[in-house]
Amino acid sequence: MIKTSTLAGILLCFYAIGAKAQTEKQVIVGTRNVSLVLTVGKNGRVYQSYFGKKLLNAADYTNFAAGRHEAYITGGMEDQFQPAIQVKHNDGNPSLQLVYVSDNSSKKSDDITETTFNLKDPKYPVEVVLHYETYFNEDVIKAWTEIKHNEKSPLILNNYASNMLHFDADKYWLTQYHGDWATEMMQQESQLTSGSKVIESKQGTRPDIYQEPLFMLSLNQQADETSGEVLAGSLAWTGNFKFQFEIDQLNSLRVITGINPYASEYQLDAGKTFTTPAFIFTYSNSGKGLASRNLHRWARKYGVLDGDKPRATLLNNWENTGFKFDEKLLVNLFDDATKLGVDVFLLDDGWFANKYPRNNDKAGLGDWEENKTKLPSGIEYLVKQAEAKGVKFGIWIEPEMVNPKSVLYETHPDWILKLPNRDESYQRSQLVLDLANPKVQDYVFGILDNMMTKNPGIGYIKWDCNRTMSNTYSVYEKDKQSNLYVDNTLGLYKVLDRVRSKYPHLLMMLCSGGGGRTEYGAMKYFTEFWASDNTDPLERVYIQWGFSNFFPANTISAHITSWSKLSTVKFRTDVAMMGRMGYDINMKDMSEADLKFSQQAVKNYKRLSDVIWFGDLYRLISPYESNRADLMYVNEAKTKAALFNYMLSARYKEIFGKVKLQGLDPAKRYKVEETNMMEGAKPSFPDNGKTFSGDYLMTVGLTLNAGRIIPQSSSVIEITQQ
Ligand code: DGJ
Repeated sequence: MIKTSTLAGILLCFYAIGAKAQTEKQVIVGTRNVSLVLTVGKNGRVYQSYFGKKLLNAADYTNFAAGRHEAYITGGMEDQFQPAIQVKHNDGNPSLQLVYVSDNSSKKSDDITETTFNLKDPKYPVEVVLHYETYFNEDVIKAWTEIKHNEKSPLILNNYASNMLHFDADKYWLTQYHGDWATEMMQQESQLTSGSKVIESKQGTRPDIYQEPLFMLSLNQQADETSGEVLAGSLAWTGNFKFQFEIDQLNSLRVITGINPYASEYQLDAGKTFTTPAFIFTYSNSGKGLASRNLHRWARKYGVLDGDKPRATLLNNWENTGFKFDEKLLVNLFDDATKLGVDVFLLDDGWFANKYPRNNDKAGLGDWEENKTKLPSGIEYLVKQAEAKGVKFGIWIEPEMVNPKSVLYETHPDWILKLPNRDESYQRSQLVLDLANPKVQDYVFGILDNMMTKNPGIGYIKWDCNRTMSNTYSVYEKDKQSNLYVDNTLGLYKVLDRVRSKYPHLLMMLCSGGGGRTEYGAMKYFTEFWASDNTDPLERVYIQWGFSNFFPANTISAHITSWSKLSTVKFRTDVAMMGRMGYDINMKDMSEADLKFSQQAVKNYKRLSDVIWFGDLYRLISPYESNRADLMYVNEAKTKAALFNYMLSARYKEIFGKVKLQGLDPAKRYKVEETNMMEGAKPSFPDNGKTFSGDYLMTVGLTLNAGRIIPQSSSVIEITQQ
């Protein structure tokens, strides 16, 4: 049964208010709390008249006129700032005019409605469709654009944004996320000034390694976790992206999001439709925390494969053995996985290739048969042995890449991206396969498909990608080289579509030498992503904190390793627990006490994983503002919560105030109990075991760090309604 309030919301959410004047028509694209108002002006063009908090009275929307912000500005016409789209017609005319033809709203479910605007050029056979899909309960909007034409030769698309949004605020602050290998997702906030700020990627296959396709924009005043107006947005595209923030002479800001047109002037054949990736965004007038929770809820339900389903805990062998292992050693490691109590053993790089064995990263990529010296009995044997020991078997692949030292390179040089008349350029001694080519797509799909067909017991795949695109040229693309960056990504999606139609629920981690691929275009095919190769827990607090702004905890793979020699196993574990916890450690390095602690930690994690994976996240104290970090997850019923408290580089006797909790029910009473403690350790906070009202915990808070502070120490507190 639909509740009346919901029904009212649905009725309010999509409707044309009707003709304001004879030639003006207003359409509200709305969710429970957010409205985007689009108006067809008297000149037949479509304008963004409003974007922000939903108004309480429907009648108030009639106050909005078309205004001056065209919704999807075309290049070559009268606007003199950055356009959303710029094309070149067959006759060389470099302009586009888009006039309204029709709009349509259709309900896909109780939650989802799609609104489209059909626009066309009055003089040239070019059509553009603006799509807005709203997720009512999650307050998320997904926007993308379709472009098609009927000119004789290909239409040249110079710019082809997914979306454009306009703002008229006093001031604008942009939070961007950037980094490098092992320092992914560092956050930086700055005030935007007049002119343009561009965040973009040109890395192709590892598009997110330097700049992330994610941002938060605060309006008027700097937002914090609980207050301020925020737009949080993300481009769902596993390729080059570009975000342009441009403030004009009247202090209006336009935000243009989409594929990076860099080296990608797209030649679109007549009759074909170019569909841009989706820009996914939410708006919050209660700070960044709510914006994150909206995105998490959307992601779990719609954005991530099986986002609302449990994940597996695992033991990986990469940090432990590197390339040096054989089947005997692996079978022994299965015992370690069983001892720990995790669900999966994940065999990493180094298991394949014979003519050029994969004994280091210089050879073998492309030759995906088991190495006969290391694995004489094959994968089949490993799958069975793992099963016999009570764990699922998982395996690493990097199917889009090739080493020059490989049979694949020798037999199919035309399948590889490399420039004619130039030296080959390597990263990690490897080159990229040409996924624009359907034959290569078949090959890449076949790598996974053959393995799964022979070994249906494989329960987990780690899909890696360790180099960017550079010095590229595709034999397949012939005279359409500038389509390559886009077509390569579309080729990857074709492969992943096939993988998912045959193996719809196989757990798959998206890895890209750390966080080179961290966006929602790929995440609809993957269950989680590898946030960073850097597993030093101190660094991970910052990296995972950054990702938590946009991705739910069950998608952020976080492993306990020996990367950091300074930290304790307890600190490493508590940090990994805020995401999808796993291990990548030599268990022989663990003391008896650490092993005991870890076995119990896996049990604790399994007990708490429902609230961590599916609960609402509240970031309480930021590591960017303090020598500690605090965050908590609360389940939907507000009966259970898990609080994580991390001391970072805290000083001896540094004074920390109480931590005020969030997200609880003020009227409920909760017991607060420390969990995940080393055997024999005393509780780290004075109120352990006591019961408080939600109101007290949120208004007064808890003293979590008193007395002598130990840097890189932590506590996990289980909060349970009594
Ligand atoms: C890069 C990944 O991030 C690592 O976890 C590991 O899988 C290596 N590749 C293997 O080559």
